[in-house]
Amino acid sequence: MADAVIGYAGAGGGLVMKSFSIEELRLAAKRRLPRAVFEFIDGGAEDERTLRDNLAAFERLRLLPKVLVDVSGIDTETSILGKTSRLPVAIAPTGAVGFGWHGGDLAIARAAKAFGMPYSLSTSATTTIERVAGEAPGRLWFQAYFFKQREFTMGLIERARKAGYEALIVTADVPVGGKRERDFRNDFAVPFHFTPKNVLDFASRPGWAWGMLTRGMPALENLTGLEPEAKSTAAVASSVARNNDASLDWEVLKVVRDRWPGKLMVKGVLRADDAERAVALGCEGVIVSNHGGRQLDGAVSSLDALPPIVRAVGGRASVLLDGGVRRGSDVVKALALGAEAVLVGRATLYGVCAAGEAGAMRALEILKDELVRSMQLCGVHRISDIGPELLAG
Ligand SMILES: Cc1cc2nc3c(=O)[nH]c(=O)nc-3n(C[C@H](O)[C@H](O)[C@H](O)COP(=O)(O)O)c2cc1C
Repeated sequence: MADAVIGYAGAGGGLVMKSFSIEELRLAAKRRLPRAVFEFIDGGAEDERTLRDNLAAFERLRLLPKVLVDVSGIDTETSILGKTSRLPVAIAPTGAVGFGWHGGDLAIARAAKAFGMPYSLSTSATTTIERVAGEAPGRLWFQAYFFKQREFTMGLIERARKAGYEALIVTADVPVGGKRERDFRNDFAVPFHFTPKNVLDFASRPGWAWGMLTRGMPALENLTGLEPEAKSTAAVASSVARNNDASLDWEVLKVVRDRWPGKLMVKGVLRADDAERAVALGCEGVIVSNHGGRQLDGAVSSLDALPPIVRAVGGRASVLLDGGVRRGSDVVKALALGAEAVLVGRATLYGVCAAGEAGAMRALEILKDELVRSMQLCGVHRISDIGPELLAG
């Protein structure tokens, strides 16, 4: 039944058509990318406990499906941040995507538009704010990192406003970069420096290396104009946010609230009291997230952090979740625990790194197909039918 509802048309050919899960796209990305780039995307901080626990939390939770319900028609449409979305899924902001696939930001943004879902552009993107708005004009959210040069970030926010971005996400869990040891070991940093180790690594993936040689190394295009000293350290990879403003606090968020006329969300919230504070300050949304396990290792999994936050917010704002979503049934679980929607980071990154836009489309198609199928198998027709009674224990 779900095949009839979804179909696989338009996913692009070859490789990605043979991937039937996000994990298979992950393996396809691993085959195509140099180790340093793959591990930058796939890895997390320190011992990667939080990274693993994001996935394990979904594993631990079991569903309690209803049977003998007519599920011949399934509607995945829902409201995210007060506007209609075809799926309860949005794209999480991710930096340096161009290292995985040239033009990767745009490829994911186009796929998100095709699936009628919001796309978040990172401050550390490899495509400009304006180009994404011009070439993938779907529902766009802009994610802001705050630099020591605060006015530089305010300038980016103003550019996002002018370009028509609907919402602003302030990422709050990066006062300093997480300690991502794989990146240290692999000599991976942005701006990129060639070392004997990473040159060998790159040479082992000629397809990827050819693309970089012919099209050039990607740049963090929105950071052009940040003063030279800062630009050389403005960062993703393990040095992420070495230039970030560690003094970012609630006072700054207040200033942002006053200056940003659109919807405002805080990302990286794991505590109920912080969520309450964000709502009291006028945020329309809270994103429950531990940055995909890339920041504080040992932090609680996003899914475990969700219920107290949902209770504290009490319907006064949108509560979204990211971290560990790899299956359509994960979406059902997060919604059953009270999330309005989920964001996906690595799922579409694996797809785009495997096969560009076709790969990003394929990732979303897999998630959509699995979501529809899981809803049918759970005995629910509509997103609003998903509730805590679907959870065992
Ligand atoms: C390669 C990579 C880059 C990321 N860059 C950013 C970023 O620039 N800004 C941000 O707020 N979060 C960033 N994140 C975190 C994601 O927005 C999101 O919280 C996380 O990926 C969710 O977990 P998942 O990958 O398991 O879906 C990044 C994550 C990855 C994997």
